[in-house]
Amino acid sequence: MYQSLLQFRDHPDIKHFICTWSTGRWDDRSPFLELPYYLPVGKELRKRRGGILHGQSLSLCDQLLTAVHFLHSVVDVAHMDIKPDNLVLDMDRDRDSITLKVIDFNISIIGTSHDVRPGKRGTTGYMAPEVIGPRQYSPILADLYSCGICMRDFLKVDRRGRRDRDDSLLFEAFVDFAERLCNQCPSKRPPLTKRPKIKERLTEPQRDANATSSGTVVG
Ligand SMILES: Nc1ncnc2c1ncn2[C@@H]1O[C@H](COP(=O)(O)OP(=O)(O)OP(=O)(O)O)[C@@H](O)[C@H]1O
Ligand SMILES: [Mg+2]
Repeated sequence: MYQSLLQFRDHPDIKHFICTWSTGRWDDRSPFLELPYYLPVGKELRKRRGGILHGQSLSLCDQLLTAVHFLHSVVDVAHMDIKPDNLVLDMDRDRDSITLKVIDFNISIIGTSHDVRPGKRGTTGYMAPEVIGPRQYSPILADLYSCGICMRDFLKVDRRGRRDRDDSLLFEAFVDFAERLCNQCPSKRPPLTKRPKIKERLTEPQRDANATSSGTVVG
């Protein structure tokens, strides 16, 4: 997987390519592996009102879809376990710019053009219905379903009190897109090229618009 991603490290959609880590031994005994620390999205979502995610749902949806589209169309990888616990956030010191990163490629599929055999692969609740059979399924379309469920999680955080917001239309466009991705029938899920795009629709600079809109993929 790292070899597969390594060739894209200079791609314009990749903000930070983290493919290095350090290793060592505590007191010359127990081995350790050191990784950069990011904010786990799943943990924030479980906090009241979504913790730091509150007010960021559009940016999170935008970045998730951008990252997964990049994985599918450029890297030719289906993640197969898209869920908040496999997403982390890199944020600047003022917390007004967040970069979403996709992690955990343990069960990813490299080469996405062929349908794959059914069998549990992923996490219950986020896994597409066709993954557990009885027929072969497209790993790309299964990822789309998981993205839709994640988007529902994100949008729920900001659902209340939005009636007069300038970005209401965009919010509704993401809600609608999430519902279409969650279609039980894989072929009815829309392609990610048709996703609502933050930069095209927001006219004024706002908190969400300030947030960087390109997702990142890390191993
Ligand atoms: N770089 C990081 N910074 C902060 N937290 C991280 C980082 N990498 C992973 N985590 C946290 O550790 C959890 C487990 O990481 P990861 O998903 O890579 O391992 P896993 O063994 O595959 O776990 P699971 O089986 O639950 O998916 C993540 O849900 C995330 O909350
Ligand atoms: Mg994981």
